[in-house]
Amino acid sequence: MARTPSVGGNWKMNTDRTTGPALARDLAPAAAANPGCEVAVFVPFPYLLAVGEALGHGSSPRGTRVRLGAQDCYFAPDGAYTGEVSIHMLKDCGVSVVLTGHSERRHVLGETDQLVNAKTRAVLDADLECVLCIGETLDQRQAGRTDAVNEARLRAGLAGVTAEQMAHVTIAYEPVWAIGTGKVATPADAQTAHARCRAVLAEMFDSAVADATRIIYGGSMKPTNAAELLAEPDIDGGLIGGASLKAADFLAIVEAAGEQT
Ligand code: PGA
Repeated sequence: MARTPSVGGNWKMNTDRTTGPALARDLAPAAAANPGCEVAVFVPFPYLLAVGEALGHGSSPRGTRVRLGAQDCYFAPDGAYTGEVSIHMLKDCGVSVVLTGHSERRHVLGETDQLVNAKTRAVLDADLECVLCIGETLDQRQAGRTDAVNEARLRAGLAGVTAEQMAHVTIAYEPVWAIGTGKVATPADAQTAHARCRAVLAEMFDSAVADATRIIYGGSMKPTNAAELLAEPDIDGGLIGGASLKAADFLAIVEAAGEQT
């Protein structure tokens, strides 16, 4: 079945009060010119409101195609969780899509599958879209455990998620060794991993859910390698880190994804 491609810019801990909104203003009109691709930006918490405004949310139709995304959240609705940000707060700032389980949350900040699952379920229970990130480390890949690790991440991350809720889930396959390293999975390797993830979704839910769920690739995707990755049948878009900080590079990837439709 035809899946609408999706490209997200993960700004990580970059930009500031001036450069974040400026980047958003550069993206909005050009993204609107590529209706074949859904576009989101995952913005540092302090700049969500300013970036939402720069994207034209809540005012003119200009640029409203770019969704405002958060890089993380906490699963509890409120309370004594110093430093955390609730999903209600994110919604209040105009966020409609949230990343869960990003590799840097798992491997730098120590998030477990259980925590990632709690966040994923809370995002979906709040009727927001969720991008669940999975992917193997270099050691795991070299030990031949890529498929097993991705299957375990999917089963744990999506535990308790219903087939209906899967309509609001995108999976981001991001091999950890490819993130921010300039090393990119070959299109064939990425396609193999994506197809295997889709087969796991068919086992967990059914083939209709598996066919409808977008599985996007992340890990050093850039304008020079995006088209060949996106041409693979099971690669439905990208989650872009470094290249999302330059409007021209990010938009070239959005265009490449839009051309696949
Ligand atoms: P990268 O990051 O494009 O800089 O490799 C991707 C990501 O972490 O989502």
